[in-house]
Amino acid sequence: MTATSIWPIEMGGDQAKRRVAILISGRGSNMTALIEAAHAADFPAEIVLVVSNIADAAGLAKAAAAGIATATVASKPFGRDREAFERKLHETLVEHGIDLVCLAGFMRLLTPWFVSQWDGRMLNIHPALLPSYKGLHTHERALADGVKIHGATVHFVVPEMDSGPIIMQGAVAVLDDDTPDTLARRVLSVEHRIYPDALRLVASNATRIESGVCKSKANGSPDDMLIAPAVI
Ligand code: GAR
Repeated sequence: MTATSIWPIEMGGDQAKRRVAILISGRGSNMTALIEAAHAADFPAEIVLVVSNIADAAGLAKAAAAGIATATVASKPFGRDREAFERKLHETLVEHGIDLVCLAGFMRLLTPWFVSQWDGRMLNIHPALLPSYKGLHTHERALADGVKIHGATVHFVVPEMDSGPIIMQGAVAVLDDDTPDTLARRVLSVEHRIYPDALRLVASNATRIESGVCKSKANGSPDDMLIAPAVI
């Protein structure tokens, strides 16, 4: 994200709803949460395209069943030429008149070239409270460290992996008998709640970046505290 980003983040077009593409590599449960949220008449964005880099990603069939246009831009044929893959991906997004891109389990590292094309207009969801636990196996690492609070983050994408201004976070208590799977399930519920809410903020121009920090005109009051473990 450039230092010159302003409030609101500038997007082309003057249509009532932002045109959103979701990029996936797998099952697409966050994609489904976004599609469902966007059905609300007052949602400021419409999901017009789902793109996968994996031809048989389960999420593609779910998107098609929901009546959303889908595309596969396979990354494999491009081998190590990441930018060639991304040029094709970028072309597909431009063809569909996309305003905002949501990465939802899109397991590809993006080059600075691609990120710069979508500066301030590309969001990612990560299954941890960033800046802790960037990268993979976040739940295993949180459990190994014995943290008592864990969660998920929606952030703007910058060239550094799992970095960029944080738009929204949601937290859960970590329980003594949690396994990576049980913890992942509760964090995933948080993901499904915060990704649509974060997209709502961005698509309605309610976010701004100040010195690399995202601030927002959110209209709710967050809970004051989450304390874990709880003592009665
Ligand atoms: C989600 O938990 C998402 O946070 C994670 O992949 C999962 C995709 O699930 N993303 C990352 O780890 C990216 N760093 P989904 O396909 O069911 O949305």
